[in-house]
Amino acid sequence: MTSTSTKCQKWVLAKTMKGAATLSHFRLEEEDLITDLQDGEVLCEAVYISVDPYMRPYAERCLTEGSMMMAEQIARVLQSKNPQFPAESLVLANVGWRTLTRVSDMTSLRQLPVMGDVPVSNALGMLGLTGLTAYCGMTHVCKPKSGDTVVVTSAGGAVGSVAGQIAKASGCKVIGICGSDDKCRWITQDLGMDAAINYKTDDINAKLQETAPDGVNCFFDNVGGDLAGAVICHMSIGGRAALCGAISLYSDDIHHPSQGLSIFRAIVAKQLTVQGFNVLNWFSSWDVVYRALYDLVTEGKLRSKEVIYEGFDKLPEAFLKLFQGGNLGKIVVKIQN
Ligand SMILES: NC(=O)c1ccc[n+]([C@@H]2O[C@H](COP(=O)([O-])OP(=O)(O)OC[C@H]3O[C@@H](n4cnc5c(N)ncnc54)[C@H](OP(=O)(O)O)[C@@H]3O)[C@@H](O)[C@H]2O)c1
Repeated sequence: MTSTSTKCQKWVLAKTMKGAATLSHFRLEEEDLITDLQDGEVLCEAVYISVDPYMRPYAERCLTEGSMMMAEQIARVLQSKNPQFPAESLVLANVGWRTLTRVSDMTSLRQLPVMGDVPVSNALGMLGLTGLTAYCGMTHVCKPKSGDTVVVTSAGGAVGSVAGQIAKASGCKVIGICGSDDKCRWITQDLGMDAAINYKTDDINAKLQETAPDGVNCFFDNVGGDLAGAVICHMSIGGRAALCGAISLYSDDIHHPSQGLSIFRAIVAKQLTVQGFNVLNWFSSWDVVYRALYDLVTEGKLRSKEVIYEGFDKLPEAFLKLFQGGNLGKIVVKIQN
């Protein structure tokens, strides 16, 4: 019996990831994909693909030259031999930077949640893993109480913008730190955060002193390094810091970071709780968290913005933008309608 096949495209690592990521780290390849499905399998095509900062350290740690880049997609099921994922349905597929995928391992597929009036691409952002990260890090690690002063770094990015709004909805004073005046305006004027600090142009210490004169109770950090260190030094006694990410250090050797090491005196003196976390540990609470996020959206307390790159060929460029800064909210790449 002859089998049916089709061409698909994928982005692979062209060389070992070291130092700052560049376009030359990625190579576009074509693959023949046999599309005769076995029982239980589905064939799906990418509609939106997420780019996320974790892909940089992950690529260095876990991928060798020629390995496909990892990512979550929103995908359309083209053919199905699995009644859980019928043809024409949209799914969340953890299958990487590729156009077409024959999925045999169903642990890589999830049903798309109900999105209501929210554009479907937000299932990769505020109503997806981004939202789960922000919600769990803020609620379970920072544990903000009404009246607390909360600082969020990369507050105009995907996770940070959601984390800041969650703290705001909990009755806190929220100070967002980000790298452009556009972002500072967006998080204060549109998202309702109380103050914004531009880490590229403002005097961080003076601004933290001015906006948080009694100290910072909760710190949700996305960037690490000297900027995070400055916030730690402005925390109040008993403060809680949720270390979500360290994008300023992702190009560094993990054993020899170039910055951010002078925080220990403040941690001891202020008796701080400083906790790193991984969103995957909360994956089992997804349904409950999704409901909470969706309720915030319908109450008008949670908004998002997306930067949408168009075309599969734009994946590396969209990914590199995360490290250049400037994206208001979440970056996704649209592959097709
Ligand atoms: N712990 C977890 O389970 C988990 C899950 C998801 C994400 N994360 C982490 O959360 C963080 C945010 O992720 P995201 O998807 O929301 O990305 P994002 O914040 O939307 O995008 C990255 C932003 O980081 C800022 N940035 C880049 N280099 C920087 C530097 N050297 N110093 C300060 N800021 C810098 C830029 O913002 P500006 O324009 O403001 O400079 C850039 O726009 C990342 O560190 C990511 O790895 C962790």
